Amino acid sequence: MAEKLAINGGMRLIPEGFIKPWPPIDDVDIKYVVDSLKQTLHAFGPNCREFEKEFASWNGNKFAITTNSGTAALHMAVAACDCGAGDQVIVPAYSWSSSATCVLHHNCIPVFVDIDFDTMNIDTKKIESAITEKTKAIIVVHLHGLAVNMDDVLSIARKYNLKVIEDCCQAHGAEFKGKKVGLWGDCAAFSFNQNKCLCSGEGGMFVTDNEEIYKKALTLWSFGETRTPSEKRDYHAYALGWMYRNNDLTAAFGRAQLTKLDRYLEIQRENASALTEELKGTKGIILPYEPPNHRHNWYNYTIRLIPEEFGWKKQPQIFRNAVMKAIQAEGAKVSVWQNFILPRMTVFQAKNAYGKGCPWSCQYSKPVVYDPDTYVVAQRHTDTHFGMTEPLRAPNNVEVAKMVGKAIKKVLENIDSLDIEKLGTS
Ligand SMILES: Cc1ncc(COP(=O)(O)O)c(C=O)c1O
Repeated sequence: MAEKLAINGGMRLIPEGFIKPWPPIDDVDIKYVVDSLKQTLHAFGPNCREFEKEFASWNGNKFAITTNSGTAALHMAVAACDCGAGDQVIVPAYSWSSSATCVLHHNCIPVFVDIDFDTMNIDTKKIESAITEKTKAIIVVHLHGLAVNMDDVLSIARKYNLKVIEDCCQAHGAEFKGKKVGLWGDCAAFSFNQNKCLCSGEGGMFVTDNEEIYKKALTLWSFGETRTPSEKRDYHAYALGWMYRNNDLTAAFGRAQLTKLDRYLEIQRENASALTEELKGTKGIILPYEPPNHRHNWYNYTIRLIPEEFGWKKQPQIFRNAVMKAIQAEGAKVSVWQNFILPRMTVFQAKNAYGKGCPWSCQYSKPVVYDPDTYVVAQRHTDTHFGMTEPLRAPNNVEVAKMVGKAIKKVLENIDSLDIEKLGTS
């Protein structure tokens, strides 16, 4: 039976306030943060040190350095892997901008590889053809909480003697073959920003099991003062450094959230299964795929639309935008994660990182061409996807997940009542 969609003036399916915001804040968070305020070291303080130890232990790493963002940790990873001026680093064509700009931060050149449509991760079959004599490292991004097939990546890395950096910013607790991400490559970066599975407001963590890499990462973390805050500072820049340290309040918040992380991840997995169950068999959509040997953390549950199944033959993003707006009007918090594939972003098209063409024009660089039309899979994904984070996060439960599924189905079953052209282009 046809139902009037909320976007056409009907009743919205999910009432205001039904989906709870992320992250839940309880007495544990308040205690940690207030205790931090009550002590006197507010810069890199005791909570930072404890957070490093506790996170390293939670993930199983030997070394951890807490940073003020995931991007800082990524830049430290590029430097710690000895990537220098003009060296090329392989990155997926679809990710957060800083998965690739962290390479530019160290005067290195990103080289993009298309993604695999099913997993949305870098297509490991296409990595080898992107390797040149300039390639120094591969950055794998465990996108949306699904681990990259690390057997494939490590066998290529071994063959060509390349370093492997894991961008785990979205992938806390995700596993490949029963082993957590952040334990596979030479080093890894996690993010703790607002939307991440472990939220401390902003913040990040660099992790590694290699002492030499750990020490190299430390050299740029705090003004190039190669002495750490645990040693006596001499305020001398021994190397080029940045200010990537975390602060005590943020680390206190992160520690509090870490005590609850395993339970939150369990809830996310339960909610994702409930949503999959609700949506299974729905016409015109592709549900996210969890290959065997992978354990998703469901950071972002991403759906792709098949516009042709609804008779839509024009640009797919118009159809997607219209459908997404109608779902949002039903009260389900869904959104497009990225509107641009990375090689299409202006910084790469205009090669305008440091001005005057640098670092691409550096005498140590070899020319690279960024032709966005060659990343057809990443583009198809970008144009047809929408996803969600908050509805599947604690304290939301399977009831919420199912309601979101019902909102999606309500829109798809009543698609004929949508003015796709108008909605999708406005
Ligand atoms: C895949 C990925 N890499 C890197 C980052 C950067 O993390 P941050 O915002 O903490 O710098 C993010 C998130 O913002 C991300 O999603």
